Amino acid sequence: MTTKDRVLDLFERNKGEYFSGEKIAAELSVSRSAVWKAVKSLRDEGYEISASTNKGYCLSSGTDILSAQGIRKFLLHEFSSLDIITIRETPSTNSLLKKKADEGAPEGLVIAADSQTAGRGRLGRSFYSPPDTGIYMSILLRPGSLPAEKVINITTMAAAAECGAIEDVCEKKPGIKWVNDIFIDGKKVSGILTEASFSMESGRAEYVILGVGINAYEPEGGFPEDISNIAGAVYDRKKTDGKNLLAAAFLNRFFGYYTSQGASDYTETYRNLSLAIGKEITVVTPSGKIKATALDVDDSCALIVRYADGRKEKLISGEISIRL
Ligand code: BTN
Repeated sequence: MTTKDRVLDLFERNKGEYFSGEKIAAELSVSRSAVWKAVKSLRDEGYEISASTNKGYCLSSGTDILSAQGIRKFLLHEFSSLDIITIRETPSTNSLLKKKADEGAPEGLVIAADSQTAGRGRLGRSFYSPPDTGIYMSILLRPGSLPAEKVINITTMAAAAECGAIEDVCEKKPGIKWVNDIFIDGKKVSGILTEASFSMESGRAEYVILGVGINAYEPEGGFPEDISNIAGAVYDRKKTDGKNLLAAAFLNRFFGYYTSQGASDYTETYRNLSLAIGKEITVVTPSGKIKATALDVDDSCALIVRYADGRKEKLISGEISIRL
């Protein structure tokens, strides 16, 4: 860990508390000028660190920047050694993590950013990722030799984990629009983009990148016009540590499911969170849109639908729309 990382760790664990430069230097066994440089570079990154002649330095409790130190504060003990890289801005955390995966990075590496300049959504869409109000996070998974049809389970596991995480941090009741959009009060607050690299020989996934974008807050001035009708946010007002807390809550929930190797069945949770079951929906296919009734979500999280002609189908991937 660099001195900057260690200073941030101290500040994050004691937000709102003053520490003299001398005390920090002694605690970290570094010089006072090294502390000063670390504070300066944290300020340059956007951390609000006040300085008082008598009391020293203090990280404002209003600072809500994603950091490994900030996320780790809220991680369960069993996941506290997750390797987490945070970055203020990147084109896309999924793209960045894919590079690391191709270079051999191990399972469990997490990259989280405060903004993306080319955030990617499903079906080739872009994902609006403005600075400071969202969590843009990708997780590298190497689930052994996972057959293609099982990759969907990682996505649905993540959707259930996200809803649980939202309930952990606020009073709101999220739901899932199949397959993996998270809605609160009719507005989408989060989307998931799962990308996998398959071996041509075995047809199995060599690695999976789970990308999660969450609107923690509504951007100042609102969402852009083209999504203002459909986009929403998890928090209504500023919450201390809001983003790090929510990111950690998601990682705790997701890895809780993922590492339980089937012991913790999330499919019942997923089904109960479904916003589609029992509703009239539109199934969007490459060849057009078809009206249907969503009947159920089965144990593999496939959506069972019935079309107007009585024909039933089990959808394992794709897109639906529902009037929420
Ligand atoms: C969707 O709603 O279509 C899926 C959105 C997924 C967005 C996340 S943000 C982190 C990761 N990096 C990306 O470029 N996309 C995913």
